Amino acid sequence: MYTMDELRKFCYSCHKCGLSETRTNVVFGEGSENADIMFVGEGPGYNEDVQGRPFVGKAGQLLDKMIEAISLKRSDVYIANVVKCRPPENRNPFEEESNACLNYLRWQVKLVKPKIIVCLGAVSAKNLINPDLSISRQRGQFVKKGDIYFMPTYHPSYLLRNESAKKDAWEDFKSIAAKLKEIKEI
Ligand code: URA
Repeated sequence: MYTMDELRKFCYSCHKCGLSETRTNVVFGEGSENADIMFVGEGPGYNEDVQGRPFVGKAGQLLDKMIEAISLKRSDVYIANVVKCRPPENRNPFEEESNACLNYLRWQVKLVKPKIIVCLGAVSAKNLINPDLSISRQRGQFVKKGDIYFMPTYHPSYLLRNESAKKDAWEDFKSIAAKLKEIKEI
């Protein structure tokens, strides 16, 4: 079993896929190692690549607001991505890139042991829940795998482009808060 620091060190020197050739920084992920909720996005964008931190651009600011709307702080949760290096021009990661990177996320999940994993967008939901999943049809529905409840919802970048989807995302976030309360009461 690795510690989070050991894992981060491995990840910082990773060359398992071509994204390592074009990245500025590895975006390992951050947050509480005791988090009940883990948010998993797709991969770093421009701002994340420059700063080496997940969800720090406009989409990240919206994610922060949504986390705060369910009475949590960003530092209470853990935030990571399917791929730790920025795909050029923010394209979706190729399957071989996600596959090369997913073991880091699996270790992060093992170390944090979240009760709920929120999959932000299709790339995350397809990699973590089911490759055939459709966000528009299945968002907001929990899928239990082992001890963890997975919830697919819209990616915050999508919400920035589609204002009208925000009310659905807000319903999803309220369900996340309710599920956490329910789990903690058991
Ligand atoms: N989009 C993502 O999927 N992840 C980030 O870290 C930032 C934007």
